Amino acid sequence: MSKRVVIFDTTLRDGEQSPGVSLNIQEKLEIAHQLARLGVDVIEAGFPIASPGDFEAVKAVADNVKGATICGLARANRKDIERAAEALRGAEQGRIHTFIATSDIHMQHKLRMNREQVLEAAVEAVKLSKNFTSDVEFSAEDAFRSEVDFLCSIFTAVISAGAKTINIPDTVGYATPQEFGRFIKAIIEGTPNINEAVVSVHCHNDLGLGVANSLAALENGARQVECTINGIGERAGNASMEELVMALYTRQAFYDLETKINKSEIYRTSRLVSNLTGMVIQPNKAIVGKNAFAHESGIHQDGVLKERTTYEIMNPQMIGIFQNNIVLGKHSGRHALKERLKELGYELTDENFQKAFERFKALADRKREISDEDLAVIVEDEMRSI
Ligand code: KIV
Ligand code: ZN
Repeated sequence: MSKRVVIFDTTLRDGEQSPGVSLNIQEKLEIAHQLARLGVDVIEAGFPIASPGDFEAVKAVADNVKGATICGLARANRKDIERAAEALRGAEQGRIHTFIATSDIHMQHKLRMNREQVLEAAVEAVKLSKNFTSDVEFSAEDAFRSEVDFLCSIFTAVISAGAKTINIPDTVGYATPQEFGRFIKAIIEGTPNINEAVVSVHCHNDLGLGVANSLAALENGARQVECTINGIGERAGNASMEELVMALYTRQAFYDLETKINKSEIYRTSRLVSNLTGMVIQPNKAIVGKNAFAHESGIHQDGVLKERTTYEIMNPQMIGIFQNNIVLGKHSGRHALKERLKELGYELTDENFQKAFERFKALADRKREISDEDLAVIVEDEMRSI
């Protein structure tokens, strides 16, 4: 089985569905260019039928962004699919992503359709999409709450109709890793022509398990993951791309899987998406949060200054973070203060350093974080008193 994992980025579609987020065309283009630099395989640029603005944004991305497949979302009906096809016409490689819900709860209450009708609509949607592009993805919305046998029959039918990717969303973020892994395995085993398509997953984060569920799916044969930068998206968001990619990379010996993500662009992409969407990144967010590589306690700082890997499992520079990771506060020790003073160009005698250290500790009891400006005041004061 291939070791290659396809990274399908849906920051501009599912990510833009985050409450309060709305990106204009220029902003979407800027993010899409950065996603291409980051090396994602597929950029889902939007939902062209949703609004004239969304149509124009998908079209602008398709016309201008090269080096990645550009994808547009469409419900399983003619109007949506034709609109998506029109928006994607200028793409180097365009993908139509068509979907319909397959869980009883969605079919009964939302679609008011029975299983036969849903299966027929899915097959028709894939066939129609094939008139515009060879790259067609089919998603069974709310797949995780759908019956496995029904899912297998619908996937078998859409693959026969020409779908090249079948996507298995946990639309409401209900799964837990072990059961999601088993679920993916059961679908792969129950779909006879599965080898003709790439198996994809799309995990929402309602229980905080989006990345864990995606990893469990990969262990069980999925080879595309749908994710977003900073994990943004509907409600609690989607699986976070930077967490997924760095988990695969850092634990390569365990997973033995590869992506083509250019890791040094991760931090820059995260900042760009946060700035343009206005969605603030929580400080303790893995990989890209302000504290992700920050060390405050003296013991940790001493360890990291002696050998980085004592308390760091990833090198922050690898993902494009170059700022200082030692936070000076009340838990910091002599080693960290000495290193920072050296970086700032101060050479103190042992006696002066001891006095400066005492003043630093006293200040740190009153102030949460000691800045370089605070240190300058302390040290220059000490030097004057010589
Ligand atoms: O969460 C979901 O089911 C979706 C589909 C449209 C793929 O976003
Ligand atoms: Zn979704």
